[in-house]
Amino acid sequence: MNTIIMAGGSGSRLWPSSRSLFPKQFLSVVGKDTMLQATLARVDGLSSGNTSVICNEEHRFVVAQQAQEFGAELSSIILEPVGRNTAPAIALAAFDALESAGDKAPLLLVMAADHVINNVAAFHAAVAVAQVQAEAGSLVTFGIVPESAHTGYGYIQRGAEVVGQGGAYGVSRFVEKPDAGTAQGYIDAGGYYWNSGMFLFAADVYLNELKAFRPDIYSACEKAFANRQRDVDFLRIDADAFKACPDESIDYAVMEKTDKAVVVPLAAGWSDVGAWSSLWEIGDQDASGNVISGDVLSHNTANSYIRAEHRLVTTVGLDNVVVVETNDAVLVAAKDQVQDVKKIVEALKAQN
Ligand code: GDD
Ligand code: MG
Repeated sequence: MNTIIMAGGSGSRLWPSSRSLFPKQFLSVVGKDTMLQATLARVDGLSSGNTSVICNEEHRFVVAQQAQEFGAELSSIILEPVGRNTAPAIALAAFDALESAGDKAPLLLVMAADHVINNVAAFHAAVAVAQVQAEAGSLVTFGIVPESAHTGYGYIQRGAEVVGQGGAYGVSRFVEKPDAGTAQGYIDAGGYYWNSGMFLFAADVYLNELKAFRPDIYSACEKAFANRQRDVDFLRIDADAFKACPDESIDYAVMEKTDKAVVVPLAAGWSDVGAWSSLWEIGDQDASGNVISGDVLSHNTANSYIRAEHRLVTTVGLDNVVVVETNDAVLVAAKDQVQDVKKIVEALKAQN
């Protein structure tokens, strides 16, 4: 089994800590390790095969340095000249894995570099269940037991349990990011999971499904990979061919369409750390319900996330807020509106 770590996101909702040159997957948001290093730790001991990272070209040195610091040997750091979303990114990694494999197409454990999983043992147990299904030719997605009608996630409706193996189910339906009403309907009905965005399948099974449903993406990636250049660990693909590739997620391109999907439920304290409020949810709340990071002094402040990176931050009389201080920018926001931090990032981009 090989591992592919996708590290190409922009993480704009974690501004001002997350910046385009240094997005959230390269930051320490909980604990000492960066999110990429925590992902490397999470897959340690799982796969006997290669581990590769696929990221934007401009982050190549951050990835190489963080992997080295962690002590991980990466077989490839695949560099995308532009982001074309996850369906093409995974296709490039699948071509790379097939090329370095022997006769048998390797299994690919597809991980995101920007998730938190508290219970690693539970995750490893789910991977073991998924592996059996992937070996039998399925595209396995890990399904998180939902806690709310979140609209930032894909939803998976569970089908019948796979005969002969507990803990794996067919997929009746896969719906990428439904609207709020639809999501609430799913929660009320039961039998739905959040799509974790982590997958396990054989490299050739994924590529065949992509070819069947999105031959345009498949052939653009095939072309981009054909003209690759290897520069020690860095794998550079053909920029013009990849720029011509449509931008699409694996969810829309393949998972919604395939009849080979299987879901393995996962209850492991998973979060995709989509916004500052997620760090409040997963953090250690003090007696007033605050999650504090860095040099902070608060009085009469409750239910808030306060992060000081460079200076002392003090608060008085606040409830349900997010304060994030960095060396050149400060965010103060209502905790229930932090999804809109990306609007600030868009406005700043428009100014420059
Ligand atoms: N290399 C690379 N290139 N990585 C990418 C690219 C890309 O072009 N685009 C996204 N990624 C990485 C991100 O860094 C992230 O780790 C992961 O792929 C998923 O991308 P997101 O952009 O964060 O997707 P999402 O959160 O909107 O939705 C996906 O994840 C949800 C769970 O977090 C979907 O799979 C949803 O169905 C799922 O619920
Ligand atoms: Mg995400």
